[in-house]
Amino acid sequence: MKIGIIVGTRPEIIKMAPVIRECQNRGIAYFIIHSNQHYSEEMDSIFFKELNLPLPDYNLGVGSGLHSNQTGNILIKMEPILLEEKPDVVLVQGDTNTVLAGALAASKLGIKVGHIEAGLRSYDRAMPEETNRILTDHMSEYLFAVGPNQHAILAKEGIDSDKIFTVGNTVSDSLFQHLEISANTSSILADLSLEPGNFFLVTAHRASNVDVSANLMELLALFDKLHAKYSQTIVWPIHPRTQAKLKEFGIELPSYLKLIPPVGYMDFIQLQKHAQLILTDSGGIQEEACLLGVPCITLRENTERPESIEVGANVLVGRDADKALAAADKWLSVLANGEKLSWNNPFGDGHVAELILDIITSSTPNTLAQEII
Ligand code: UD1
Ligand code: UDP
Repeated sequence: MKIGIIVGTRPEIIKMAPVIRECQNRGIAYFIIHSNQHYSEEMDSIFFKELNLPLPDYNLGVGSGLHSNQTGNILIKMEPILLEEKPDVVLVQGDTNTVLAGALAASKLGIKVGHIEAGLRSYDRAMPEETNRILTDHMSEYLFAVGPNQHAILAKEGIDSDKIFTVGNTVSDSLFQHLEISANTSSILADLSLEPGNFFLVTAHRASNVDVSANLMELLALFDKLHAKYSQTIVWPIHPRTQAKLKEFGIELPSYLKLIPPVGYMDFIQLQKHAQLILTDSGGIQEEACLLGVPCITLRENTERPESIEVGANVLVGRDADKALAAADKWLSVLANGEKLSWNNPFGDGHVAELILDIITSSTPNTLAQEII
């Protein structure tokens, strides 16, 4: 059994790390292909170092670009590697262009694809990620669904139930494995002069929020209203996409917004854990906030992670400041009464990678791939 592991962006490295570690623990043959969709040190190599991951066996060096260009380049560069390595299974995680290209390259060679985080749907086809999710799911032989909602979505789309495995999300493995380590190693709160529970944390990188100047301004107006009401420092580790857009649009920011470069995972866990409130359009951060017991205001009109809303950990506000204030008021008044916020965890028990590898290793060898390659 040989497994090809594909990564390309920050969240894929973080959520694939437990799978890589489990391959190492079990002595399973594997190799890592990194598309380099993300390549800046703080979006890429910092995570390999912090998570103690082996360096990728292959770096495709595709970098940034228009969607088809990026996706096509990954496809072209991936194919000879898969032909040479002949894996039984290729694993992809999430919904990026790297995931779609990796799954397609493998599928065209008759190699089984395992999609980790299968069955998520925002039902918003304007999101490039939604297309990537749907196509990847329909090319996969192993669909690793987070929970029963995703199982039902996939079954409704006609995917054979035998291929769907409800396992949870590897985000729980990564987070639980690094919570204590990050508490012992990160000094980010002291470095930024932040008091635990006394700041808001923001991230934003969705094209719909940051690529259009008026939308980005609307987000900033939302932060203004929150700050006017609560006078909290708002910490914003800024995604390079958003940084580039702020520069392009010539937008200046108020001083209560503490803009910092993207931080490593250990620092980001501590920022999340000790934030009073998280505002984000990230997928993974909606999950991590929920797991950490920190309320999350999602700066989107929809989410492919409705479970965090169902348990009361998350609310969708788009860029509507009044909705954001209403959500903040509700949660912060509970905290002001000295009560704790808590909810059920819908995202896994921290042993998801083990389940994934149990499933892959107990299934039959990939005869189709052997015939084609
Ligand atoms: C990508 C994924 C998105 C995921 C996000 C995680 C797609 C379609 N999008 O979005 O689903 O949520 O990663 O963060 O696959 N840049 C750098 N350095 C880097 C990477 C990017 O400077 O290492 C800048 C470049 O200006 C680039 C821009 O960020 O053009 C956008 O990068 P890209 O990978 O295309 O999209 P993301 O917004 O990062
Ligand atoms: N993250 C990080 N440093 C940061 C911001 C985020 O380590 O400055 C981590 C975060 O803990 C989560 C992941 O990056 O695990 C989320 O990535 P992102 O928001 O870029 O992508 P998405 O989840 O939306 O695809």
